[in-house]
Amino acid sequence: MTTHKRYTGLIEFYRDRLPVSANTRIISLGEGNTPLIQLQNIPRLIGKAVDIYVKFEGLNPTGSFKDRGMTMAVTKAVEAGSQAIICASTGNTSASAAAYAVRAGIKAFVLIPEGKIALGKLAQTLMYDAKIIQINGNFDRGMALVKEVAELAPVTIVNSINPFRIEGQKTAAFEIVDELGFAPDYHCLPVGNAGNITAYWKGYNEYATERVCGNRPVMCGYQAAGAAPFVAGEMIDNPETVATAIRIGHPQSWALAWNVQKESGGWFDKFTDEQILAAQKMLSQYEGVFCEPASATALAGALHDISTGKIPEGSKIVCTLTGNGIKDPEIAMLQCADTKPVTIDASLDAVKRAILDSL
Ligand code: F0G
Repeated sequence: MTTHKRYTGLIEFYRDRLPVSANTRIISLGEGNTPLIQLQNIPRLIGKAVDIYVKFEGLNPTGSFKDRGMTMAVTKAVEAGSQAIICASTGNTSASAAAYAVRAGIKAFVLIPEGKIALGKLAQTLMYDAKIIQINGNFDRGMALVKEVAELAPVTIVNSINPFRIEGQKTAAFEIVDELGFAPDYHCLPVGNAGNITAYWKGYNEYATERVCGNRPVMCGYQAAGAAPFVAGEMIDNPETVATAIRIGHPQSWALAWNVQKESGGWFDKFTDEQILAAQKMLSQYEGVFCEPASATALAGALHDISTGKIPEGSKIVCTLTGNGIKDPEIAMLQCADTKPVTIDASLDAVKRAILDSL
């Protein structure tokens, strides 16, 4: 007899490892359980014997890893009786907060830097009907304002300074170990506010402590060159990068992320917008995986460190692709400015000619 088991989100799946009780009303959109895709063409292309897997978090319900944290944060906010949530965001947190607020039947307020979030993220947040407050300042300023206003108004902050966000996001590390049977040697990911690197490390540590796996990865945190406070060793005031998701100069999880670096024996590094965009295009063109620019920072970093031998051949590497490429159609169109679609007559002859021309 076949038993059917519907996947209903990461809180149900990892319930024993998360702060919920039998009475908790779970706010979920079926997040988590994202594919871990082994790259096939890029390792061949670079001529290195490495196993590179990408954890495609862009396939979460709102298109980014934020949903893992948001299911937990909103579940706990509702459990505590909160009627409203608030966040500052470079776009993905706001989209996720808005969706989970709708699901819960509560209100979402989101502060975003005007003109500095990707079009898809703005569109989805509008569709989810959040109260969008655009500010003429960057994410860091928005975050400071959110912290101030939450002191005065009955709203729950759902940025990653909310510890429940980290609890939800640690499940991505569980999924990787559950699937591979071990932790990777290296885990590469983009770093902005540094909540996610903190969350992965927590997840790997919990599994290693309980002997679910025998090893822990070296954690590699990669930033955009114009927004790289961890590489500078100090906060920066005017971050700038094409990867708007990680356009952050004052990371909230500063001390926690340094701790991850030390404990895991890992490192931070930075890559130019050109390197980031090249990695984004490479993933699309050689592997059929379309992530947003910020996410490609993970692959840009991994490829660089593989080429220098800092990540040696024989390594097993996981790169987190934090968000979906569809979120940022404007960058995608710019990336492909030289490959415009051909326009032809709607006739068989013209179609045949167009196909023959490009064979
Ligand atoms: N990648 C994407 C696609 C992101 O949206 C973010 C953060 C990060 C990486 C960095 O993760 O902050 O945990 O180090 N986005 C936040 C937002 C800031 O508002 O959507 P982190």
